[in-house]
Amino acid sequence: MCGIVGYVGDKQALEVVLDGLRRLEYRGYDSAGVSVLDGSGLQVERKAGKLANLEELVSGRAMPGTLGIGHTRWATHGPPTDANAHPHVDCAGAVAVVHNGTIENYEVLVAGLEQRGHQRRSETDTEVVAHLLEERYADGPTQGDLPASLRSICKDLEGSFVLVVSHRDEPDLVVAARRNLPLVIGLGDGENFVGSDVTAFIAHTREARAVEQDQVVEVRRAGVTVTDLEGTVVDGDSYHVDWDTDAAEKGGYEFFMLKEIEEQPAAVRETLGGRLDADGLLHLDELAMSDEDVRGIEQVFIVACGSAYHSGLIGKYAIERWCRLPVQVEMASEFRYRDPVVGRNTLVIAVSQSGETADTLEAVRHARSQRAWVLAVTNTVGSTISRESDAALYTRGGPEVAVASTKAVMTQITAMYLVGLYLAQLRGTRDPDEVRAHMADLSTIPDLLTELLGRMEPVRELARSLKDEERVLFLGRHVGYPMALEGALKLKELAYVSAEGFPAGEIKHGPIALIEQGTPVVVIAPRHALQAKLINNVQEVRARGARTIVITTDGDASVLPYADDVISIPDTKSLLTPLLTIVPLQVLSAEIARARGLDVDQPRNLAKSVTVE
Ligand code: AGP
Repeated sequence: MCGIVGYVGDKQALEVVLDGLRRLEYRGYDSAGVSVLDGSGLQVERKAGKLANLEELVSGRAMPGTLGIGHTRWATHGPPTDANAHPHVDCAGAVAVVHNGTIENYEVLVAGLEQRGHQRRSETDTEVVAHLLEERYADGPTQGDLPASLRSICKDLEGSFVLVVSHRDEPDLVVAARRNLPLVIGLGDGENFVGSDVTAFIAHTREARAVEQDQVVEVRRAGVTVTDLEGTVVDGDSYHVDWDTDAAEKGGYEFFMLKEIEEQPAAVRETLGGRLDADGLLHLDELAMSDEDVRGIEQVFIVACGSAYHSGLIGKYAIERWCRLPVQVEMASEFRYRDPVVGRNTLVIAVSQSGETADTLEAVRHARSQRAWVLAVTNTVGSTISRESDAALYTRGGPEVAVASTKAVMTQITAMYLVGLYLAQLRGTRDPDEVRAHMADLSTIPDLLTELLGRMEPVRELARSLKDEERVLFLGRHVGYPMALEGALKLKELAYVSAEGFPAGEIKHGPIALIEQGTPVVVIAPRHALQAKLINNVQEVRARGARTIVITTDGDASVLPYADDVISIPDTKSLLTPLLTIVPLQVLSAEIARARGLDVDQPRNLAKSVTVE
């Protein structure tokens, strides 16, 4: 969590840093702060609440200077107050530090610092770094050497961190360090950057370099030096970021989420693009496994969190159906703690939009330690999960800024189908003609999505009629079940409505007791082999007073007698229906949140990228 920016160049740093923070605000938004170095020293401003509060505080205020650092916070140690907002400074106000992560041994370090006379001004773990830097820069073997001081401190820190530091006596230097959490360098011309991700500097440069584990970066106007913790210079490759800057802007939409919902047809097209050769055979070279190893796979695990977990559940249906391989889908936060039976012939697929989710990353590390082959399915090139996995399949969804995942889930599900078909093709469980036919079905999805998105107004109207509901249930069967979970998660996180998703056949074993007169129940019932059973379930809940909202297929009248409200989607193959049923679920939750006057992009207590366990 937390977004970090550092800049040194010839532009006014305040503007560059605030602009970067605006793009990173999705990572955390309970307080924000900046520090700019001018001729007289470090100027630091911090404010609790969203970035807008900080912007208001500094507006019209002179903060000249061409070197700056900034932070947008998701609180871990200490509540989101002005005092706990970053940057934190040392006793003399000479060093400013911003931090993403948690320093697990900070209490021991604080005790030592207090004994040595340092005054603590916040409840954060971060502040210890400022005081430690004060000591090491003033005295001892690292005296007067800011990078060496930071390297020496990193050796004493336990936990996860990205630290970005500036010092009033170093007008041409920002120093940053990384352990376990993401940090990217932006390479400009006469100016350089560091940020939590490339969106921090994409408006200024598209040349980036990832910082690896336990590396320290010295950022100067003329260039960037990366070292390990011993001070040895480490070479590394830069890469070009081809994301469209407009994609990280709202483009006239009230919220990013609304724009990102509309971007889904193009996103799916990107995910599918260029995967077939002239013979119509599927190529997924990213999997990087030999044909023999693919044939040797005995089981598949899919590990992920939140919405990505729901995408993984769809992957299970696809891979089991097409490849006849056993697939287990695990919440990444549980995976490594129950000692799963994973070995050399196991393929582990880690699904993560950000590629930085701590739980998923730890699951990847655990799987690799057990000698499994790990494939990352991620949206973020250069992310930690992609780098720590054996191979990475990029979903190509473009930047997703809203906390609620929409086009990311859509492209993850698409990628799950691709993996399923590719494994089936290589293992010979589906013949090439069938793979071609499934790919042809998939290729119709972007147009169907465009059509579907064009008729969402009645769904928005329906959502407005639900705005005061405090409990909504979602039911589905087969691939409709993960979508029921996804619909419920979206409603919870965006509208703070108590929502649960169930397999429709399961409600009679308990959850049906939740139904009262008028309880809204959304049933995902597109034309499908199990539709008749779903219609029974619709009748069961309706008989107990539920208001039934049924997602069905165009032209299918079978469910109409039992539906209070109907949402119709275009027809497609039953296994692919999640790519369409998910859309009205997204629109419904976004519009309910909007009607309740909530911030659709930045729901309370959440952050986009969950980098703590
Ligand atoms: C869903 O809308 C969420 N924002 C959340 O559940 C998300 O999918 C989860 O935190 C996983 O994130 P990742 O894909 O970046 O790993």
